[in-house]
Amino acid sequence: DARVTIADLKAMKARGERFAMLTAYDYATARLLDEAGIPALLVGDSFGMVVLGYDTTLPVTLDDMLHHVKAVVRGTKRALVVADMPFLTYQVSVEEALRNAGKLIQEGGAQAVKVEGGADVVPTVRRLTSAGIPVMGHLGLTPQSVHQFGGFKVQARTLEAIEQLIADAKTLAEAGAFAVVLECIPAPVAKVVTKSLSIPTIGIGAGPDCDAQVQVIHDLLHLIPGPLPKHAKAYANVGEMIQQAVAQYAADVASGTFPTEQESFRLPKGVTPDDVA
Ligand code: KIV
Ligand code: NA
Repeated sequence: DARVTIADLKAMKARGERFAMLTAYDYATARLLDEAGIPALLVGDSFGMVVLGYDTTLPVTLDDMLHHVKAVVRGTKRALVVADMPFLTYQVSVEEALRNAGKLIQEGGAQAVKVEGGADVVPTVRRLTSAGIPVMGHLGLTPQSVHQFGGFKVQARTLEAIEQLIADAKTLAEAGAFAVVLECIPAPVAKVVTKSLSIPTIGIGAGPDCDAQVQVIHDLLHLIPGPLPKHAKAYANVGEMIQQAVAQYAADVASGTFPTEQESFRLPKGVTPDDVA
């Protein structure tokens, strides 16, 4: 079975079929999501926060990204794998962006890359797509600009900013982006953008009218204790399940009820416990 392609995702939009995307950062999770039929997986630089424990995505390097992309690609047969381009791997020059995106595709095995930003990244989007690298855009709350925003805040909060975002989305699509993530913007703005583009919009905190949704897998599974972002929903409390499981394991070890004979190995035939003693 062939992998999902960017043409498949565009065709889903054309047919009015919504689709779900999730982040994945490792082999095991990628396998589970791929086998569950999730058509597109994002190796988001959010792993800097939810896997590596940084406060922002800014410390993530290209080598960090490659490491996770390779694991996710090995765990998938069907899903389209999109690799985030880390901070400063695409902003310095179009040439550097091409070289770095090329590594994520050639060395990492991803099928597409994602870059944050509007008009500023348009020449890069053109160059990458003309080199054959599918590019996903990302507008609204672009976490690599967290210090510029003064925090992880909802974007497109003024009429001017709304008009800018709508214009940026059109320019990205014209530059060849195959899809665009809309993060933490008012739902009605995402609806307008979705209607105005022929490429899929992928919302996270952008309301129900996007063509697709993306969520961070750690949020969806509530892996990290504490409150979730407003846009997220815990579909399972896996963090609690893990804590219950390890507490039970520790109790069983303490009481001697694990391991049992079931989990143990016997002596070879012909050797008795007396021979060993
Ligand atoms: O890094 C990430 O997980 C992302 C998504 C939230 C879109 O960029
Ligand atoms: Na990201």
